[in-house]
Order: sequence, then C-alpha cells, then structure tokens
Amino acid sequence: MRVYNFSAGPGTLPPEVLERVRKHLIDYDGTGMSVMEMSHRSKPYMKINDKTEELLRELMGVPDGYDILFVQGGATNQFSAVPLNIGTVNRKADYVVTGNFSKIAYKEGAVHLDAAIAASSEDKNFTYIPDLAPSMFRRDADFVHICYNNTIFGTRYTSVPDTDGIPLVCDMSSMILSQEVNVSDYALIYAGAQKNIGPAGVTVVIVRHDLTDRADPKCPVMLRYDNQVKNKSLFNTPPCFSTYVVMEVLNNLKEHGGVAAAQKINEAKAAKLYDYIDSSDYYVNSVQKEFRSVMNVPFVSPSKDLDDKFVAQAAENGLVSLKGHRLVGGMRASIYNAMPTEGVDALIAFMEKFKKENKA
Ligand SMILES: Cc1ncc(COP(=O)(O)O)c(C=O)c1O
Repeated sequence: MRVYNFSAGPGTLPPEVLERVRKHLIDYDGTGMSVMEMSHRSKPYMKINDKTEELLRELMGVPDGYDILFVQGGATNQFSAVPLNIGTVNRKADYVVTGNFSKIAYKEGAVHLDAAIAASSEDKNFTYIPDLAPSMFRRDADFVHICYNNTIFGTRYTSVPDTDGIPLVCDMSSMILSQEVNVSDYALIYAGAQKNIGPAGVTVVIVRHDLTDRADPKCPVMLRYDNQVKNKSLFNTPPCFSTYVVMEVLNNLKEHGGVAAAQKINEAKAAKLYDYIDSSDYYVNSVQKEFRSVMNVPFVSPSKDLDDKFVAQAAENGLVSLKGHRLVGGMRASIYNAMPTEGVDALIAFMEKFKKENKA
C-alpha cells in the first residue's frame, strides 16, 4: 500500500511514473535490458539524455544561450562548482543567507573567493526573506547567490532580486518546476533532483553559455562546466538511471499540463494547509505570511511531546516523514508536485482529529 510521503527529500514521486519505471525495469523500450544496465554511450541512453534535456528546456522555457547539465554530487557540489567556474573574474561573490543551505553555500564560497553576506534573515531564525536592493551588492562581485525556497525553514522568495546586472545564481533544489520562472532572470540555476523532479543522484545545472568559459584552472575536471557542456554531461559515467527517471517525471508533468498547471495545484494545496493551520487555534507556522513556502510547510503543536506523538500517530495512519528538521523541530509537510491534493486533505483531516483528541 502506498503512503502519503511528506519527506523533504528524497521526496514522493508520481505513482504513474513509478509504474512506467517498473514496466521498463526488465526491458527498456525493446532493448532487452534496464536503463541501469545500459552503456551510457549506447544509442538508447543517448536518446534518454537528449530527451531529458529537451523536455526540461521545453517545460522551463530555457532560452537558447543556456546549457543544461545533468551532473553528480548533489546541489552541495554546486556550492563549490559555482565559485570555481564563474567566480573567477574578480574573485568576489555576494550571498544572501536565508537558511541552512545558503549558509553552507556561502561558507563553501568563502573557501574559494572573497565571499560576503549581502543580507541575512538569521536574526529571526530565517522566518522571512530580507528586502534586497542593488546597492546591497558589491558592483564588482562576480555573482550574487540566493536560495529560492528554503526547504528547512519553509520560506521562499516572492520576486527575483534586482542585482542591476550582476549575474544571479539560484539554488532551486526544492522548488524547480513547481512554479513558472523566467530563466533569463538568472545566470545560473541548479537543483538536486530528489525533491521535485526525480530520484537522488542527479543534479540539474542550467547555465548561461557565456559564463562557461572562465573556470579556475585548478577547478576539478568533473566540476568544470565547459567540460560537461562539451561532453553533453557524459564526460564520465553519468547517473543514468536517475536521469532516466527524471525524463519520466518530465514526460508525466508535460502530460498533466506542464509547470503552469502544477503551479496552480501547488498554490491551492499550500493555501488549504496554511488556512487550516491559521484557523486551527492549535497549530502554528511562524514564517512571515508573505514569505511562506508553497513546497515545505513547517508547523508545531502546543508542545514537543505532542509533536512527537503527532509524528508517530500520523505515520500509523499512512502519513509519513512529517518530522520537522532538527534545526526547527515540530513537523514539516513537504508538498512537492507529486503530492496529490488528496494527501493534503488527508493530512488536514488527521490534524483536526489529533487536535480534538489532544487539546487541553
Ligand atoms: C535548497 C537546498 N539546497 C541544497 C540542498 C542540498 O542538496 P544535496 O543533498 O543534493 O546536495 C538541499 C537538500 O535538501 C536543499 O533543500
């Protein structure tokens, strides 16, 4: 029996995709083998590699002049790859710290270049996104780095910061393909696949082509964007199976109306859950309302003991992985693209039942 899986990542995948993967597990498309067993230099795999790129380009509206890469090492590897590839002109970069991951990105940036924190929301435990203006960034910074959706703290940007021409780099790991974005607002976008677009093991990088010509000579070859571009992400053995599953997720998203359709459903799911929390007089989400994430919804009950009881009882009722991150505590419901509205309805029904049974 399938459960409703609210994990922040690896996250739930559409059952239709899992069925397709199962069907292809023994014999992919008449090849007599699974994608796991296939040479990455074979024609069928090259087709998968090309198709995955084509679908992502189409679904996100990635313009010409941007390269799309499928690489390994997770989003975390990009914390190093970005400064080593594009932070090489003035060796300066500005970071906006809005949570745990952007802080790690900043610290890794500081290993490679002169990294500065342009703004931070740590003063209020990352419950908001700071106001940003072009004057807050150093004019000679090689890039400004932001994290669009903060998976742990449940915040997200509501607009793209104006950097007045400084290349903007964005970690979209926990919201890629959940809402429409204008790719040309960014110089570089990266995202680990395991939340919204597939299994762990593959990371998407979308990079403006003109920025791929300036890697630090000491940049490891696997991290070099020019090398990955030249080799169509096949410099060494790529994460074939993960990329294949991404292709199936993208096919599925396209069949269901693409990103605009997903965005509508995502906003409705999140609104339902926040409305319930706000009206419950029992559960609390402490993020400033305008910055509330559409993907990750943290909340607490009146006590830590009740939080623990909630998580355990929810799991007994088929609502799993609701434990909040250790930095925040309480609960967190990650409601990525693949979480159906019925899952959110089931969670709200359980929350109401739990409240009635436990309210003092
Ligand atoms: C926003 C964000 N950035 C980066 C990461 C790190 O990703 P990875 O585990 O793929 O390195 C995560 C993982 O949860 C994340 O949510």
